[in-house]
Amino acid sequence: MKNNALIIILCGIILLLAAALAGTLLYLKNQPPVARGVLPIVEIKPLESDSARWGINFAQEYSTFLLTKSNNTPTTYGGALPSSKLEKDARLVKLFSGYGFSIDYNEERGHGNALTDVRATKRLNEKTPGTCYSCKSSDNPKLWTEMGMAEYDKTPFKTLGKRITESIGCANCHEAGTMNLVVTNPALEEALKKQDKDWRKFTRQEMRTVVCANCHDEYYFAGEGKYLTLPWEKGTRIENIADYYDEIAFSDWQHPDSKTQMIKMQHPEYELYSADSTHYKAGVACADCHMPYTRNGAAKFSSHDIQSPLLAPEVSCGSCHTDVSYVTARVKIIQDIVWETQSNTEDALVAAIEAIAAADNEQSDQTLLEEARQLHRQAQLRWDFIAAENSMGFHNPQEALRILAAATNLARQAELKAVKASVSQELSINHQ
Ligand code: HEC
Ligand code: HEC
Ligand code: HEC
Ligand code: HEC
Repeated sequence: MKNNALIIILCGIILLLAAALAGTLLYLKNQPPVARGVLPIVEIKPLESDSARWGINFAQEYSTFLLTKSNNTPTTYGGALPSSKLEKDARLVKLFSGYGFSIDYNEERGHGNALTDVRATKRLNEKTPGTCYSCKSSDNPKLWTEMGMAEYDKTPFKTLGKRITESIGCANCHEAGTMNLVVTNPALEEALKKQDKDWRKFTRQEMRTVVCANCHDEYYFAGEGKYLTLPWEKGTRIENIADYYDEIAFSDWQHPDSKTQMIKMQHPEYELYSADSTHYKAGVACADCHMPYTRNGAAKFSSHDIQSPLLAPEVSCGSCHTDVSYVTARVKIIQDIVWETQSNTEDALVAAIEAIAAADNEQSDQTLLEEARQLHRQAQLRWDFIAAENSMGFHNPQEALRILAAATNLARQAELKAVKASVSQELSINHQ
């Protein structure tokens, strides 16, 4: 009997202890996550432009973000070592003749240098509008709210510069407080609206790409006020963009040799990537490759050291691909092929420009000559869509090669038309 009572008491104690433990575990598990993580240390004001202030609360993101300033490792076609594209490829001087990009055109580098680099470019002059700061500073979201984008854009670069001190930072991508990813650039907001798209309804995975489209897309300055505009009204494919520019008869400059009305393309990473690339269709986001999850002890966070994924392929590609050396070797093959093709297109463009310049005289058939100029415009803006895109075709290899093939074809047609323009006149003269 005594033994039985002891067992019952012991069992009771064990049950009580077990219940207490289960209760404690359940209590801990149901605590809101914030109680387990690091509590915010400072309050961050809406649109706070000083990234260091956000950094107090988010040390891992901030310390990796700072690395974008000092990165300087080159890769075969990218990386962040400052270098002149014009010195590497003299044909660019001919293709951009008469325009700022024939004077100064450098390989782009990390976000931490955006402000220094835009201020250092020799492309700046007295007429440069404030619009050129649009993708360079975390002061912008606040300035756009205070001034409105129209006023911001038409303020001269120098004057606006007095109000800008920060390079790209947290406020360009995040909403303070919630830390949600946001569209901060009014030009992107407007371009999406014109396509009946509301980014507030996008999924989190979509935002991990769209947040980069705040800056990584083709744009132009509309009208006297140099209003920042994305040419997406007809769609984001190169043909849609070309049609749009033709319809509004827009040009960035006139080529002095061929007298063609030209368009300069600007870093259309978002457009090329989202044009049904394999990765895009598979739901992969820019941040998956450029901001891979990283571990620091128990903490897992997105690396904010945004750079060439080829400099850290184990984390950038390895989260999805088991054979990292295979996929990085594929990048090399793809980029080499795209570069070879792009280089051939450049030869065709140079030939077109020379043929048009040679045919530019009163004896030539002016209608054919004008058609040749139109073909030159179409060819070069297509080539530039790929050349100004920064992945050397990797973001969408099929689309890159499709566009370059079209560009080469158009450039050779331009050359032929120009030759015809002079020959047809000679022939008619000979027949007289
Ligand atoms: C599947 C992985 C992947 C995705 C997704 C991806 N990229 Fe890339 N990106 C790369 C690779 C690889 C390169 C080539 C880097 C090199 O040549 O050093 C690159 C190059 C770049 C570069 C030039 C980097 C340099 O070092 O010069 C920029 C800018 C860029 N990507 C932006 C974007 C943006 C914006 C998006 C989304 C619209 C995106 N990428 C989506 C893999 C990716
Ligand atoms: C170029 C855009 C960009 C900038 C600039 C940027 N972030 Fe992020 N950040 C992202 C993206 C993309 C994610 C991933 C979000 C997701 O998966 O929902 C992210 C995630 C985060 C997260 C969530 C946890 C994590 O690591 O995934 C925190 C916190 C954060 N960022 C803090 C910061 C801070 C602090 C700064 C400034 C020092 C900053 N970010 C600058 C794009 C940016
Ligand atoms: C506020 C504008 C802005 C946003 C938002 C932005 N970028 Fe950039 N990005 C730039 C500019 C400008 C440069 C070139 C800076 C320079 O050359 O000084 C750049 C450069 C880069 C580079 C080249 C870095 C290197 O080391 O070569 C990569 C890669 C890149 N961005 C990827 C991204 C990705 C991915 C996102 C989204 C998560 C993103 N960017 C969002 C403006 C932006
Ligand atoms: C978030 C996941 C993810 C990441 C990160 C990722 N990939 Fe992929 N990759 C895919 C998927 C999904 C496919 C589609 C084919 C498949 O199912 O394997 C793919 C396909 C490819 C292909 C074949 C492309 C084709 O057109 O057939 C190459 C090459 C490739 N990836 C290279 C890379 C490289 C290089 C990186 C790192 C810079 C990378 N990927 C990062 C998911 C990813």
